[in-house]
Order: sequence, then structure tokens, then C-alpha cells
Amino acid sequence: MCGIVGVTGRQDAVEVLLHGLEKLEYRGYDSAGIYVNDLQGQDYLIKEQGKIAKLREKITSDVHGDAGIGHTRWATHGVPSEDNAHPHVSENGRFYLVHNGVIGNFAQLKAEYLSDVNFVSATDTEVIVQLVAYFAEKEGLDTLAAFKKVLSVVDHSSSYAFVLMDKTQPNTLFVAKNKSPLLVGVGPEFNVVCSDAMAVLNITHDFIELTDGDVVVITPQEVAIQDKNGEAVTRKHFTVDIDASASEKGAYEHYMLKEIDEQPAVMRALQQVYLNADGTVEIDDEMLTAIKNSERIYVVAAGTSYHAGLVGRELFEKIAQVPTEVHVASEFAYNPPLLAEKPFFIFLSQSGETADSREVLKRVNEWNYPSLTITNVPNSTLSREASYTMLLHAGPEIAVASTKAYTAQVAVEAILAKAIGQMKGLQKAIEFDLKKELTLVANAMQIMVDEKYNMEMLADEYLKTTRNAFYIGRGIDYDVAIEAALKLKEISYIQTEGFASGELKHGTIALIEEGTPVIAIITNELTAAHTRSNVQEVIARGANVIRIVMDSLSQDQDQIVIPEVHPLLTPLVSIIPAQLLAYYASKNRGYDVDKPRNLAKSVTVE
Ligand code: F6R
Repeated sequence: MCGIVGVTGRQDAVEVLLHGLEKLEYRGYDSAGIYVNDLQGQDYLIKEQGKIAKLREKITSDVHGDAGIGHTRWATHGVPSEDNAHPHVSENGRFYLVHNGVIGNFAQLKAEYLSDVNFVSATDTEVIVQLVAYFAEKEGLDTLAAFKKVLSVVDHSSSYAFVLMDKTQPNTLFVAKNKSPLLVGVGPEFNVVCSDAMAVLNITHDFIELTDGDVVVITPQEVAIQDKNGEAVTRKHFTVDIDASASEKGAYEHYMLKEIDEQPAVMRALQQVYLNADGTVEIDDEMLTAIKNSERIYVVAAGTSYHAGLVGRELFEKIAQVPTEVHVASEFAYNPPLLAEKPFFIFLSQSGETADSREVLKRVNEWNYPSLTITNVPNSTLSREASYTMLLHAGPEIAVASTKAYTAQVAVEAILAKAIGQMKGLQKAIEFDLKKELTLVANAMQIMVDEKYNMEMLADEYLKTTRNAFYIGRGIDYDVAIEAALKLKEISYIQTEGFASGELKHGTIALIEEGTPVIAIITNELTAAHTRSNVQEVIARGANVIRIVMDSLSQDQDQIVIPEVHPLLTPLVSIIPAQLLAYYASKNRGYDVDKPRNLAKSVTVE
């Protein structure tokens, strides 16, 4: 949530900031702004409600600077507006601040110290910048001391990534981090700071990771880090290898369609990374032993990643024979279930930054339980803080609606399930030939992504004007139905629910009326006939039904037939028509497919 970028030591600071914000726009896009200054004392603050393109339009050619900060916002405190957009400025016009996170005690701080200040915005961030000015003026502190004093009165539950500038120290960035993600990027005679490496990959691949509690002073020549105890420290550099062009749309109209199309290639990449030539799995033995020695796996995740966890449960229980529970992170954090004596935790997170999941991981670390993060982002917070990491190798996922990360998560879970079962000597796991099965999946995915025209026609016929829709299925198809429903609702705003098809008649069928779209997923031989009966029940009440059916179970009138794959891997293929239906429903309705309203890609507040 919210994207931050800061730069010092670049004459093209305005362009560095705007480019960075465009790359970070997936983190929030209700308003944006930049502050830049130069060594001659000229400065500019420009903000705009709406997306970065509007901000760019507003910035005239005379706006320039050698250093600056920028922000793209996902509103927490205060409506989306120009006044509430960052950077925020102190009343005396000296300090400028961008912030990602939430300040728990901002109202108390405002009441205690700032009753004389005229506030422009309704944000918690403005309280912080006014407070820096307050401590600098009232207590005669220099900027760093005033900033640190502010950090000392912010309560511990708060999350922040701050970048502060002082007009009287033009080329210096004052930075602090607690819970919210922030990286420093290093270049020759310049330095940058950003929420995500992607923002600055066009100018550097060399990064320094920051830790909670760090306070950093950045000039073009130096990155001076103090840890939470005020000690000067050096932190590890790391290289981000992603090619900057991997985050470009290329010829695609939308990132989402590009990312849907990339799924067969991701399956092949995962085979390369995790499978040996003989089909056995190559994963850290120590981690597998930790899982083997545990009594129960707890998968913790949010949104689409949680849905991937539901499929993971099928894999861990059926292939590796480990009892598995799947939990929504925001629920688990404050209401944990009674745990097994030897639990093993798996955190699924595309971004590796989701605050709800991180809150659980912090507790798991306090309890000293082993954990694995499965993520798309190396060096992300969840990856750094878990005992082990497995990467998704899906390439940057930019569209807010997750597609290739979901299928990559399911594939990695399948690989992990085989590895655990293999280590336990289970016949079923040894026979689970992932080299063959993931090849079949990749081919089947390709056939489905090539069905775009049909999906567009179906979306046009069934989903163009409806207010609501249902996905139904049983077992693993129900897991997919929930994810398919989320995909459709989040980008087309059609109120969509995923239901266990047998449950419909226990209440929800009351919602079916003439023309209600119901999309049934049928890939399981054992339950196909039952789901087909449920389909008849909704047809009898006027529903317009689309059937997504595995080839061997298909009948003449089924509109979407998916090629045969292993019964536990059908989600990898059956989700694709659902992703495409969501894409075309959103596009047909004229919405911004990649940046649906009210959402952000990386949810770094609880
Ligand atoms: C929906 C979607 C979200 C994310 C959720 C968790 O398409 O992308 O539901 O899955 O916010 O994010 P990660 O996986 O980054 O932890």
C-alpha cells in the first residue's frame, strides 16, 4: 500500500521520481505527488488526485531538482484528494515527508503537541511532518535529532517507511523504517530509496536491505545507517537481477493479459528450478526434515494466496500425508487456533510484504516454530524473516489481480508435497511424476490461453450487464470457485460468490433468478454427476450456466472444455478460463483492468 521513492544526486530527479512512481503505481493509485529541490535553493511541490499520468501532465518543463521524494497513495486516513496526497509539508514550509504505513497514535500526538498548527490534510502523515518542525523549532534540534525524537514518540504498533527532506539541507534524505518495506538503491554519485526495487531498476541493480528500527541519512555520496539502538551499522548489499523490461507491458493492452499468457512459461521455469533430470525434487533437505518431523502444516495467507493455500492442503494431505490447515492471516493473527505440538508454518505471499501475514510470522518466530515463505519476491520481508524460502520464479506480477502468482504457488506446493512424500518414502509421492504432469499442465494452459476469443464472447454474452454471479464446484473445484469469484468481483465489480455446489440448496439458491450467471467447474469424476445435478437445479430457477469441464467428463453442451491433467493439478488449468472471463468482463464494462478501484497490489497495512 502506497509507494515511495526518493533520490539524491541526480540532475534528472524529476524523471527518476516519476518513472519510479509509475513502477510503484500498483501499490496504490488514488493520488500522487513529488517534492524536488536543487542546491541553489529552488524547490517544487506538486500533487494531484488520481493516477500518476495526471501528475505527470501537471509537471511543467521548468520543474527540476537534484534530489526529491515521491509518493503514490492508497488512502488509509483521509479521502483521496490533492490535500491528502503526499508529500506533506510542515506549516513553516521547511520539511517535506512521504510515508507508507499507519501511525497508531497520531490523534494523541496531534492533541499533545500540535494544537496551534493549522492542518491542511486529514492524514496521520501530516502530524509527523508538523511534529518534526515542532521539535526542530521548539527544542532547537537539528533535523536528524528532531526526526529521531518524533520516531521515539510514535507508538510501537505503528508501521512506517518515512522519507523526510529538509529544504535547508537540499541533497539529504532522512529515512526511517518500521514494518513497511523500504530499500536503499546505490549508484555512482547518487543514491535512491524505494518501496520496491522495481521502481529504480532502470538506474541501479545494487540494493541495501533495511531492518525495522533503522534510521538512515542518505546523500549522493553516503548511506549512513543507524540501527534501532542508535548504533552505526553496515547492512548487506544484494543485487536484483530482474531485467527492467520484465516489468514492461510490451505489445499487451494490459499487464493482466500478459501475465495470464505467461503461465505456461512459469510452469516450465519451475520444472527447471526444482526438478532433477530424473524427476526427483531438489529442495533443501533441512527444511524437508523440519516438515517431516512436524505433526501439522499451517498455511497462512491472504486473498488469492489463501486460495492457493486451499489447493495446497489437498496436495500436502493427499501426496505427502501431512495434516494441513489453511488460515486467513488477518484472522489467525489475533485469534490463533489450538496448535499441534509440532507445527510447521507455510506463508504464501506473492509480494512477501503482506502485513497481515507478517503479523503472524512475527508471532511464529516468537514461539520458535519453523516456517517457510513461498513468495515471488526474493529478499522480501516475509522471505527474510521465515526460516526458509521457496521462490515462485513467476517474474514481476504488476496487475493488481493475481494470476500467474496463484498458479505458481499451486505448482510450488505440488513440488513441495512431492518432496516431503519422497523423503517419507511414500509410494504415491514417488509415483507423482511432476516432470510429466507439469509438462501436461503447461500444454493444457497454453490451449486455454489460446481460447481468448471464446472467453471474450462468453463474457460478452453472460457477464456484460449482470449485477451478480456465482461460481460453484466441489472439492478442489470449490477451491478454484472461490478464487475464480474473487478474480471476477475484484476487477469487474460484479458481486460474485464461490460456493460449494452442494451448499447452494441450503440457502443461497434463493438468490438465483432469471438470467443469473452461474459458472460450474467440473473436473472430478467422483463428484461430477452431483455438480451436474446442482447445475440442473439452478437452470430450473432461470440461471444462465457456463460449464468449465475436464475433457473426459465433458458433454456436448459444455462451453469450456479443459484438457486432461492430473486430478490434483486441475486448478492450474481450470482457473485460466475464469481469469480470462474476469479480464474480458472488466474490459467490456470499461474498467481499468490492471488497477481496479479501492485496491492495491501490496497490502502493507493490517
Ligand atoms: C487478488 C490478490 C490479493 C492478494 C492478497 C495477498 O487478486 O492479488 O487477494 O492475493 O492481497 O497478497 P500477497 O500474495 O502479496 O501476500
